[in-house]
Amino acid sequence: MKNLFIKFLLLFVLASLSAHADEGMWLPLLLKKYNEADMQSKGLKLSAEDIYSVNNASLKDAVVRFGGGCTGELISAGGLLLTNHHCGYSSIQNHSTVEKDYLKDGFWAMDRNEELPNSGLTATFLVRMEDVTEQVLEGVTDEMSESQRESIITVNSRDIEKTAEEGNQYRATVKAFYYGSEFYMFVTETYRDVRLVGAPPSSIGKFGGDTDNWMWPRHTGDFSLFRIYANINNEPADYSPSNVPYKPKHHFPISLSGVKENDFTMIFGFPGRTEEYLTSFAVERTLNVVNPIGIKIREQKLKLMKEEMNKSREVWLKYAGKYASISNYYKKWKGENRGLKKLDAIAKKQAQEEQFQQWANGTVERKAKYGNLLPRFEAIYTEQEKYEKALALINEAAFGIDLILYAYRFQSLERTSQSEYATNEEVASKVKSLQEHAEKRFQNYYPELEKKMFPALIEIYFNETDESLQPDIYNTIMKKYKGDYQKYANHVLSKSIFTDKGRMDKFLSSYKKSSVKKLLKDPGYALFNAIFTTYQEKIKPENREAYDKLDVMMRTYIQGLREMQDTRIFYPDANSTLRLSYGKVEGYFPNDSTEYQPFTHLEGMMDKYKPGDEEFDIPEKLIQLYKTKDYGRYGYENKMPVCFIASNHTTGGNSGSPIINGEGQLVGTNFDRNWEGTMSDIMYDPTQVRNISVDIRYTLFIIDKFAGASHLINEMTLVN
Ligand code: ARG
Ligand code: GLU
Repeated sequence: MKNLFIKFLLLFVLASLSAHADEGMWLPLLLKKYNEADMQSKGLKLSAEDIYSVNNASLKDAVVRFGGGCTGELISAGGLLLTNHHCGYSSIQNHSTVEKDYLKDGFWAMDRNEELPNSGLTATFLVRMEDVTEQVLEGVTDEMSESQRESIITVNSRDIEKTAEEGNQYRATVKAFYYGSEFYMFVTETYRDVRLVGAPPSSIGKFGGDTDNWMWPRHTGDFSLFRIYANINNEPADYSPSNVPYKPKHHFPISLSGVKENDFTMIFGFPGRTEEYLTSFAVERTLNVVNPIGIKIREQKLKLMKEEMNKSREVWLKYAGKYASISNYYKKWKGENRGLKKLDAIAKKQAQEEQFQQWANGTVERKAKYGNLLPRFEAIYTEQEKYEKALALINEAAFGIDLILYAYRFQSLERTSQSEYATNEEVASKVKSLQEHAEKRFQNYYPELEKKMFPALIEIYFNETDESLQPDIYNTIMKKYKGDYQKYANHVLSKSIFTDKGRMDKFLSSYKKSSVKKLLKDPGYALFNAIFTTYQEKIKPENREAYDKLDVMMRTYIQGLREMQDTRIFYPDANSTLRLSYGKVEGYFPNDSTEYQPFTHLEGMMDKYKPGDEEFDIPEKLIQLYKTKDYGRYGYENKMPVCFIASNHTTGGNSGSPIINGEGQLVGTNFDRNWEGTMSDIMYDPTQVRNISVDIRYTLFIIDKFAGASHLINEMTLVN
């Protein structure tokens, strides 16, 4: 009787673990096979080929990977591109000066000549993708060691990529899925002339700041506009005044009708990384070891930064971007831990593992292949914990010190100088690029802040690092400074070349190969070097060995899970490749008795208004438009929609992704996830996880009514 009950309980738990309607980041190539019917039953009016096709124009031709880690979408026949304000942030910042503060006041190119080039910024289209598993695994056998397997896979992948790149300007990349069970090739085309067209002031584009970040209800107009330029043959080209606006194969028509509750929606973009199939041991470690280290250290960093930043606008401007990025994942990890606990994620994973073990013990073959897997996972995670913790401390604490991060840049100069084969030209070119970088670096350097940050972080790093993984410099410092980290920091900061522009300029301008001695003696470089050497010698090899094993085991584990649950479709973890998620517009209950509606309006933004506040100020013009209800054709029932939420599975990298209705029209731009859903990179909960988008009608309203840039509206395709 009791056994039966446990069985039922287990079944119940497992049912809640298996793929849900809204969970999943699907491969565009496989939509026909796995998702088309389901999507159509939920409101999609298009076919899988309308979304992804190699031979005909499809939605995928209007989606790009924007810069290093965002998504963007084409919204006009003239190459106009829409993404988030936070994705365009550094470009906007680079064009900003005190006199022309585009971050603060916004920027609008009133004609094409005013659009601003951004060196290094790219937009990448997916030309096609292909399942290349068979070719990649050719010659691989079960008997091989992992490193043999790896080297065959690398060679095969290179061959496949080379063939695909022959005679065209595309780039081909083979990527592993399900920890190396399957392989797909992605052929891409990258445009290199991407210009800034428009951005709202931060009081709209970043309204709510860090306080509202990862939160619903939200009122952020998190969008910016760019344009892709091409040569006269519509091909990628470096920036040139003679380039012309790119003509996309497809651009999104924009819906003026907005969305209603329960409407079908889908998101097409480049999600970065999820880990949905981890074992309970891995989740346990993220929850109890890795995340807490990051949270604790970042809390300290943010506090110290805030204290100094609040002292002057000048300091604030130097550190704004850095602060935002530290606070973004600080908050994310807190939300993730909260969500994992609330979901009882470890117990759910354990229940699944128990079932897996029973299943594995069911036949002789299964037992041979899978029977030992879980105990081995546990052993490896236990053994490796010390090293993983040391790595987290290096990343967050040691490399959180600006001086150490900066010193790292000089490692290549050090190595080149030490090599007897390196020519003087090679050395000179390294020096030159360091000189260029120094200009920017010292602009954003404020000694008073670093004077507090350095001792605080080095103390955490030394105190928390396992004794056996301490860098050798530790004993010297302890002996000499007797634990007085401020004294040690003052010594380094006052002597090092990395903390003073004059010293750095002098060092670099007179640099020759033999100057490397001076570099090695620099107290800042010595500290960096000691920490880096410890990492290379004591931590990296251990981690590498563990991850080599874990990769094989994860691959085997997922194979087993797929055999065991043979009717469930396993979507692959996100890996920065193009994916489609789908769901619907819906609110949720963040807690007992509170229900969140899926929409926000200007009314709610006005409720949050704090004049003069860094995060909650509102531009006068917007207040006027609100007071007169001057919403034009973008309002709805005399109100102006601002943001909405839906149940599309997204993660970091999906920022800027188009959110699309059943007709294939753009209804918004994704930019965030809700607080209660931040654990979805590890475990999804359909009742709680929502993606947050700017309503496209608000974006249009800001462009048209607020900025008066109606020429941009005119080049879009608006539909009622
Ligand atoms: N949380 C969003 C994302 O992960 C937006 C971050 C930018 N906004 C901010 N206030 N830091 O990228
Ligand atoms: N803001 C995130 C990004 O930059 C998207 C939010 C999420 O992680 O879901 O990609």
